[in-house]
Amino acid sequence: MKSAILATTISAIFALGGCAGQSHSSQPSQPGSSKALSNTAVNIEAGKDYHSFSNPEQISVTHLALDLDVNFDKKIISGDVELSVKRMQEGNNTLILDTRDLTIKAVTANGMPVPYSLGKADSFLGAPLTITIPEGANKVTVSYHTSPQASGVQWLTPAQTAGKQHPFLFTQSQAIHARSFIPVQDSPQVRVTYSATVHTPKELLAVMSASNDPETARDGVYEFNMPQAIPAYLIALAVGDLQFKPMGKRTGVYAEPALLDAAADEFADTESMLEVTEKTYGPYRWDRYDLLILPPSFPFGGMENPRLSFITPTVIAGDKSLVSLIAHELAHSWSGNTVTNATWRDLWLNEGFTTYLTYRIMQMVYGDDRYNMEAVLGRQDLQADIESLPLEDQILAIDLRGRDPDAVFSNIPYEKGALFLRELEQKVGRENFDKFLLNYFEHFAFQSITTDQFMAYLNATLLTDYADALSAERIHQWIFEPGIPKGAPAAHSNAFKIVDEARNQWLNGEIHAKNIDADDWVVHQWLYFLNNMPDSLTQQQLTELDAAFDLTQSKNNEIAHSWLLMAVENWYEPALPRVHSYLVSIGRNKLVKPIYKALSQTPKGKILAQKAFAEAKPGYHPLTVKANEGFVE
Ligand code: BES
Ligand code: ZN
Repeated sequence: MKSAILATTISAIFALGGCAGQSHSSQPSQPGSSKALSNTAVNIEAGKDYHSFSNPEQISVTHLALDLDVNFDKKIISGDVELSVKRMQEGNNTLILDTRDLTIKAVTANGMPVPYSLGKADSFLGAPLTITIPEGANKVTVSYHTSPQASGVQWLTPAQTAGKQHPFLFTQSQAIHARSFIPVQDSPQVRVTYSATVHTPKELLAVMSASNDPETARDGVYEFNMPQAIPAYLIALAVGDLQFKPMGKRTGVYAEPALLDAAADEFADTESMLEVTEKTYGPYRWDRYDLLILPPSFPFGGMENPRLSFITPTVIAGDKSLVSLIAHELAHSWSGNTVTNATWRDLWLNEGFTTYLTYRIMQMVYGDDRYNMEAVLGRQDLQADIESLPLEDQILAIDLRGRDPDAVFSNIPYEKGALFLRELEQKVGRENFDKFLLNYFEHFAFQSITTDQFMAYLNATLLTDYADALSAERIHQWIFEPGIPKGAPAAHSNAFKIVDEARNQWLNGEIHAKNIDADDWVVHQWLYFLNNMPDSLTQQQLTELDAAFDLTQSKNNEIAHSWLLMAVENWYEPALPRVHSYLVSIGRNKLVKPIYKALSQTPKGKILAQKAFAEAKPGYHPLTVKANEGFVE
């Protein structure tokens, strides 16, 4: 893909120093040639998608027309996809699609059967589907069905839902799972529009990352249209006993009836978030913005499926304390969905920009105190990863060749990416940086871009305009070297000072836990209080904390997570039944994996881990199973 040529150009720009008055002659020019990178990284071809078999540079798919039937009894999705194709190179008549565990029943081109072959399956990339299309044909139809084990689909029994009456299905395509339910060019640099007809049991509602009509008749046949071109990882479907409640003019929530009101109250500020983001970063380009609340097995906090973010129910805390997740998924409408990473190596362009925007949205809607607390907690999460990850995994433009993107999930693209942008903001001034971002979203709207393209843009804009404040060398360090560059922006929260004081006094034995004046503490203060305890506490200390604050019974899933982790690390037995119930009732990997990891450190912990995992496994999403089975089972 053409970005390889671009990469050379960019390197040349950076080799020349990029900005006046500064010398970078000794600085490596080629991203891949930095000393800090392993030798193997030298040959990474920028823009090459190492996670797709598809060939969009020869023939690219531009539109999908789906006609799908959702069969809960067999746990399969079956039907047809008609792909509109465009030849990018004359005379090339071979179309390669990604598939994973799909059964292909027939392939036609403009109505006529055509030859196809399914290649050998790779353990995480799936298998290429190679189709020969006649000269002049531009519509390819694949008839297929999914496997009950499709990695991107979770089938839930009625017992696994809030209402207990109806089954539920949802898809999760990012990073490379769309191919497990649609044969498609599953690369983030291929953008398609799509339309879909979805057949479901009559009493259920289907929703997609597309236009959804809240008023649609519940008749088991649902029509969708996504007129903006999106990458395959943003195609999403859910089916269940769903109802809709509006929250604002352009915002609303879909959820099972039992959760609908609580969700609409919790996320009532979504419309304000949308408004402040538009005001700062330019128009929202996706028409409506709705939320879909999933059952607790959803493996992520949220997923930015366009027009309809998928959200874990574990953030419905009753006090809006965890709504930064909504700001995050909403922010992806700009960074991620409007401007998209071209390969998974460039994920930080999605997640780092989005994390930066999340902080800013939270500040605009909830004020400085909240912003500062979240910034400190985020920085601490980043620090923890820096201390535990190998150097090559601390790099924003990470080398993912030969690796499963699911296995490389960390705070690096998120918090290090955001910190880099915060440094740029501080160096050029907030107003100027906001303008830069607004222009960036406009400039690259509906394109998928590489890190090199971002750097070229930066070079032509901020680096030129603020040559005295910025240096190409520093930018190179942020993007291609491990660790956090010295002098990176710091985060401070006054609200945490009293928490540090209380924790210290208590640890020094100067005060009893029940006399800590914590009545007015917010959730963030509790998280900071717990997360910064020493690694080891005595049984008496744990008992005292629990008696004073009832932490084992905390209804806040993040507080419970931090506390239960401490409880496991210090083998505090009174909390172990709650550890078990937590693990079997939540499937969000970020919340359960650290607890499984901690349990697995000791033989008696491992017994508990295995017991919980065996009980929970039938209800976990394939991703959560895969992320934990390696060290639990
Ligand atoms: N797009 C991500 C989820 C994702 C990333 C799925 C990479 C697969 C591969 C989503 O926006 C996200 O970042 N979710 C976070 C939210 C948190 C950082 C606020 C999550 O699920 O924890
Ligand atoms: Zn994200």
